[in-house]
Amino acid sequence: MSAPLDLPAVVRELPAELRQTFELRVERWWPDLRSGLAGVYREDEAGVLESRLLRLAARAYTERNPELRRLDEARTLEPDWFQSPRMLGYAAYADRFAGTLAGIAERLDYLRELGVTYLHLMPLLQPRPGDSDGGYAVADYRSVRGDLGSMADLRALAKQLRSAGISLVLDLVLNHVAREHRWAVAAREGDRRYRDYFHWFADRQLPDEYERTLPEVFPDFAPGTFTWDDSLEAWVWTTFNEFQWDLNWSNPAVFAEFADLVLFLANAGVEVLRLDAIAFLWKRLGTNCQNQPEVHALTQALRAVVRIACPAVVLKAEAIVAPDDLVHYLGKGRHRGKVSDLAYHNTLMVQVWSMLATRDVLLATRTLQRLPAIPPTTAWITYLRCHDDIGWAIDDADAGSVGLSGPAHRAFLSDFYTGAFPGSLSRGLVFQANPATGDRRVSGMTFSLAGLAAASTEEDQRRAVARIVLAHAIVLGWGGVPVLWMGDEIALPDDPDWAGEPGHEDDNRWSHRPRMDWERAAQRHDVATVPGTVYAALRHLAAVRSTLPHFHASVAPQVLDPSDPGVLAVLRQHPEGDLLALYNVTESARTWPGGRTLDLGFERISDTLSGASLEVRADSDLVVGAYTALWLVAR
Ligand code: GLC
Ligand code: GLC
Repeated sequence: MSAPLDLPAVVRELPAELRQTFELRVERWWPDLRSGLAGVYREDEAGVLESRLLRLAARAYTERNPELRRLDEARTLEPDWFQSPRMLGYAAYADRFAGTLAGIAERLDYLRELGVTYLHLMPLLQPRPGDSDGGYAVADYRSVRGDLGSMADLRALAKQLRSAGISLVLDLVLNHVAREHRWAVAAREGDRRYRDYFHWFADRQLPDEYERTLPEVFPDFAPGTFTWDDSLEAWVWTTFNEFQWDLNWSNPAVFAEFADLVLFLANAGVEVLRLDAIAFLWKRLGTNCQNQPEVHALTQALRAVVRIACPAVVLKAEAIVAPDDLVHYLGKGRHRGKVSDLAYHNTLMVQVWSMLATRDVLLATRTLQRLPAIPPTTAWITYLRCHDDIGWAIDDADAGSVGLSGPAHRAFLSDFYTGAFPGSLSRGLVFQANPATGDRRVSGMTFSLAGLAAASTEEDQRRAVARIVLAHAIVLGWGGVPVLWMGDEIALPDDPDWAGEPGHEDDNRWSHRPRMDWERAAQRHDVATVPGTVYAALRHLAAVRSTLPHFHASVAPQVLDPSDPGVLAVLRQHPEGDLLALYNVTESARTWPGGRTLDLGFERISDTLSGASLEVRADSDLVVGAYTALWLVAR
């Protein structure tokens, strides 16, 4: 197949080899780009847009520095780099972790010691002044928040991280911009071109119609989905806060702007872009305006542009949605393997907490068994919690299949994790109670959710630590990129003063976004302390994992039917041999039948976590200790 278009002048002027690489990439990715755009725009719009995108990609390619170009080639040869069992993610706010971007460079040893290969720095591009939803209301995507450093510092940091084997991950907030962003300012000043970057309505007719089927993201502090703007003289679409204006992705100019921004950040050295709130990109009357098919077509086209100009970069979908919608973000049907390379496994996250609360694995087993396999070229981001609240994304039918009521189970989890359920030692906070749906999401560090905050005896404390380690074993044992949220590696408590910070008082997600406690971190090698015990255990899990090919993300985990309702069993079949992971989510010893182990083809096994060799006999059971994880392989 020949190049579909005349190459832009900037590329024609390049040395023959560089030109050829670009040509080959265009040939390879053009069909994906075309069919993506065709899924969204009119033919004439798509035609104009595709030539514009080709010019943008060509310019970014010619400007890309030699080191990054080399990375492009290396990753083209090793496209599964992000699926490796060696991957370990860490997510932090630059300021809360290390003060400034330069401060992060000084903490590289800490990250390296932990084994981190992927660092997600929470929003650090220039936000609006005042409350900015933790930086998710961006006023300028081409500059860095002043107190953190400059664009030059960001480039330098990306380079330092790269030489330490750590990929820099940044947010791309593409559903909305701050009301103060220059596009929104121009729109408010009456510039027609920029008004069309947004969704606005002169009267309440359409907003009212949309709201009939729109759920609320922040019912507490930002009720409703539309905000009246005096200078626009219109209702503007604001899914999140009033100061976050949703962009109109049906306008091809918005696509071109973001393609350009992606290329700009890629050339600054960003290696993974987190597509923030991507589920919300496309609006359709009569729906909940999430997970619309156009979202996937848009992602496919965006990825094709990235693959042409800077294939070292991968895309990560932040779609915290129901199990049935989730797999689409890694590509289903005609988008299979053509959209994001990574996506958050919020179903797993929710099920881990649910198993710990109920001491029962049946719901998790059914739910995870039912999830379709992901394309073998993609990977989950697995995590126990993040900077956001936990929403109980549990499907009513899944709950029903194990005799639970969806609403009742979700209510139980909210009660349990906020300490309202009798006997619960969890101390999370209710986030955004929604009387209309009965939903109560939960905030809190692992420290308080897993029971450390309320532990009054040594036994409570020991159990809480065991729960934290077990939960991480499941997260690290799933395959994909496990991401630790800053502080969890040393069981950092919640920030008791979160509400005292101006602009944060109504948003208790700040309770689990504390500042790093470096004194506590200094205890990490002392296993007589809680931080030391947790740190050593997580470090061990990551180190063992990194040596086991079974954890490559292309290996699909198979959740087996439980023999004991307290033991989750996950089989990973790998050409070099299988791995059986057993997780006891209860506080008493449980068993796994020897006969089933033999049936799975294991005879002499060892547990890679403890190093113990185990004999398997048909007539005796394997004992799985309280809150214990076993990663078993054939000896
Ligand atoms: C994402 C972020 C969340 C933010 C929202 C709006 O979900 O993770 O913190 O509030 O997007 O940008
Ligand atoms: C995003 C997430 C949602 C979260 C919200 C704010 O919309 O999808 O789960 O609750 O941001 O925290």
